[in-house]
Order: sequence, then structure tokens, then C-alpha cells
Amino acid sequence: MSSPTLIQIVDTARDVAREVIMPHFLTAQRNTKDDGSLFTVVDLAAQEALIERLPRIIDRPVLGEEMPESLQLRLWHEGQDGIWCIDPIDGTTNFINGIPFFGVAIAYIAEGRTRYGVVYNPMTDEAFYAEEGGGAFLNGTALPLRTPARHLLDAVAGVDFKRIPKPLADALATQSPFYSQRNFGSSALEWCFVAAARLDVYLHGGQMMWDFAAGTLIAAEAGAQCSMLDGEPLNMSPGQKTPVVVGANAALYREWMDWLNAHGAR
Ligand code: IPD
Ligand code: CA
Ligand code: CA
Repeated sequence: MSSPTLIQIVDTARDVAREVIMPHFLTAQRNTKDDGSLFTVVDLAAQEALIERLPRIIDRPVLGEEMPESLQLRLWHEGQDGIWCIDPIDGTTNFINGIPFFGVAIAYIAEGRTRYGVVYNPMTDEAFYAEEGGGAFLNGTALPLRTPARHLLDAVAGVDFKRIPKPLADALATQSPFYSQRNFGSSALEWCFVAAARLDVYLHGGQMMWDFAAGTLIAAEAGAQCSMLDGEPLNMSPGQKTPVVVGANAALYREWMDWLNAHGAR
């Protein structure tokens, strides 16, 4: 049974997607940020809607992807005892191109740990959510949805080749240790796919904290294990790109990490 707070966060993600994001699917125009990445006015409007609504659930500040980095850093340092971290649209390139795979990602973080995590896919009406110690769910069904692959050789792997060190990327492309590979273009949802065991293992060469803050909790509560590429725990802080390695369970994580280490992870 999920807590009232978690249910309110799920409802907020669903409402913002329905009212602010979906009316603009297939018509939103692309804009380019200074770093070359894309955004739309819909990303900004969804962020504003979440900034207004989330503090009604827990009255703490909201740190969003679409804010200036100086503001993100100030909010992060002021909000150590409680802060929302949001990615209003994760998968903006998909959203702009009409590829039906993107999500709203919301995490509530206190003392460096995600306490609530919600990722909502409006195209499929799938809400993935978890609270610390309470298990992980997809629309009320406990995760994972299936037993993960027994071995890496049988695994379906999510691999986003962006920012993966070249020797490792070459080895992954030419000597892949898994059965098959996918890259869907929304890291927050990819974390949830590991939680559901739709993906058995996952690798991304550099994510921002709003890409993984919600998904790490959802995956962990579903039994997944993760670390950075060097084996250290994920480091949450704005302005920093974090490489992530995930296995749907401890055995898959270990096998995946061993292979990555033997092929240029460090
Ligand atoms: C991006 C997506 C993408 C990942 C990028 C992210 P955005 O987020 O999650 O899958 O490869 O690293 O920046 O820009 O669509 O919110
Ligand atoms: Ca993102
Ligand atoms: Ca985004």
C-alpha cells in the first residue's frame, strides 16, 4: 500500500503531463541550449507547473533541469534536508520528433538520499514509483514484472553509447557480452525498465542527477543494484555527469561490472 504522499506525487506527474505536456506533442518547436542540447517551451511550462504544485505536497524547494546552473547549485546546498529534483520532460528529443517515449521524472531527496521517486510515461499511462523501504510499483503492480535473465549472455541490455570511453564503447559494439541491446532515449524511463526487468542490465556514460534521482530508488526498491563505472556509489550533485552501471539484480550487476572492468571501464 503506497503512502498518501507518494500517491499525490504520482497524481501530480499525471496531471502535469495531461494538462501541460501532451497538448503540444507533435507541435512543439525545438530550441537549443548553450551546451547544444534541446529544449522546448513545453519543458519550461511543465517545470513551472511542477514548481507550483510539488511544494503543496512537501513544502521544500524544487530544483529543475531547465534552471540556470547557479540557481540549481544554490537550491541544492540550501536543500540538503529536503528538496525536489525534477526533469519535466526526460526524452525531449523523442518528444520533439514525435517518438512516443518520454517521461516526467520527480524525486524527493533528503540528506543525499532519494526518499520518493516517480517516473510517468504519458504515452502508455505508465506510472513507475517507489518510496524508500516500500517496494517499487508500476500502476499498482509490484516490480519487477518478470524474473530477470539468469546470465549476462541472455540479457537484454540498455546501452546509451553517449560519453562511454572509446575502448569500452568499441568492445561493447564488437564483442558484446549480452543477447541484445536497446537505447530508448529517456534515461529516467530506462531506469524504470530495469526495475521492471524489461531491461536486465543498463549502462549510460554520463547522466545528470535529474536523469537518475527518481529511477535509482525505483530500481533499488525492485531489487536492482547500481554504481558508477568505477564501482563507487552514485554521486548526486547538480552540474556533474555521472556514468551509471545497473543490473536488475546483484548477480547480473556483478557479471556486467566484471565484463566492463575487463574491457576498459577503468
Ligand atoms: C536526456 C535523455 C537521454 C540521455 C541524455 C539525457 P533530456 O535527457 O535522458 O536518454 O541519453 O543523456 O540528457 O535532455 O531529454 O531531459
Ligand atoms: Ca533528462
Ligand atoms: Ca529534460
